[in-house]
Amino acid sequence: MIENNLPTILLIFGITGDLARRYLLPAINAIARVNELPRKFKVVGITRQSDKLFYRMDTENLEDYLKLKRYLNGIEKNFPAKAQRLFYLSVPAPAVKSIVKFLGKSGLAKGGRTKLLLEKPFGSDLPSAKGLTRDIAKYFKESQIYRIDHYLAKEMAQNIVVFRNGNSLFKKTWNSDFIESINILGSEKIGIKDRAHFYEQTGALRDYAQGHLLQLAALVLMDLPDQYEWKNIPDLRLLALRKLRVARDKRGNLCVVRGQYAGYRRESGNPKSAVETFVSFRLESSDPKWSGVPITVSTGKALDKRLTEIRIRYKKTKEQEANELVLRLQPDPGIEFGVFTKRPGYEREILVHHLQFNFMEYYPDLPDAYEQVLWSALNSDHSLFASGAEILESWRIVDDIQKSWEKSAGPSIYKKGSSIHKLQRFLNR
Ligand code: BG6
Repeated sequence: MIENNLPTILLIFGITGDLARRYLLPAINAIARVNELPRKFKVVGITRQSDKLFYRMDTENLEDYLKLKRYLNGIEKNFPAKAQRLFYLSVPAPAVKSIVKFLGKSGLAKGGRTKLLLEKPFGSDLPSAKGLTRDIAKYFKESQIYRIDHYLAKEMAQNIVVFRNGNSLFKKTWNSDFIESINILGSEKIGIKDRAHFYEQTGALRDYAQGHLLQLAALVLMDLPDQYEWKNIPDLRLLALRKLRVARDKRGNLCVVRGQYAGYRRESGNPKSAVETFVSFRLESSDPKWSGVPITVSTGKALDKRLTEIRIRYKKTKEQEANELVLRLQPDPGIEFGVFTKRPGYEREILVHHLQFNFMEYYPDLPDAYEQVLWSALNSDHSLFASGAEILESWRIVDDIQKSWEKSAGPSIYKKGSSIHKLQRFLNR
């Protein structure tokens, strides 16, 4: 149920872009269909191009922001109360800094009811992320900022906390006494499509692992909030991230491998590109609860299938086999647990069968992550967003990898359609 029924203006910078068309507008539509938008709600789509449908302005010109301010005041005249204003920046990374600055200088950033929604990338390494954080903090308070990592809003990601908290069997065994290893996988079938320009500046580590997968790792490793206090979750994720670092092998080398799919250089138009489309690395946590548990994080494009899942492998003991728990985010969000049973028959053969739960079977209309993101921001709920401190912490974790790559040979080439399991095996060599 909508909790916050304040009149609302949602301003989308970059309304004609791919993200707005594919995710934001359908998400608004979906929230409207289930009657969860505030009663007074207006979308102002902002573009720099000439477009009759949308609000046109020069985002580099202070005068235009002052005009926008008057325009918004005009809209609010018809509202019963002062509106909350959400500024959603769905624009290329280099444009963020100046839009934020002009929002600040024009006075548009002020006010407890003003929110700033930001899309990744939040910088490209630790120093640039620090710089961006400082620039934004000049005009917006942390409580006004909503940094989107849509993986946090996926149904199964939100369920990690509930699953861990609500099931005492797993709650009690969620530590290194019982757990052997944690494997977090984000396999994508798609290549870079028409995003060559973007991808040439990012690569798999920054595009997917640093944000999406480290956030999932934090949800798995963090301490649980008391009484489902969702608002405490970003702080708990932060504490978990602080304890992580990339593991090193016996020779002192970082445990990381990178690859590039065959054909990428042609697709990207850069015959010398050293950008990785696959990365796999091993993390370790200094939390005594996770002592000795390897946490592997892997992602790649142009692989054999689309699959995002977290595999928790339990320890094998003399009496017990190694159970495996799978928390699957996509394509079929759900939970799977391998249990050992006797194969029916005269011989006492033991084998594994899987208990499975698939959300879509029961809830065919799962809300999309972007619906949840927007709904949460409308309702001032920060629990599905990454805080500035979390972002810096995740850049700190991958910093060693970024630095080591500057000095080492480029990625190995892999065949399109390879499996992520096969590729991550190179990590163990
Ligand atoms: C985005 C990345 O953040 O996430 C893309 O920039 C990636 O490269 C996408 O394809 C994956 O999101 P989803 O929700 O389709 O798994």
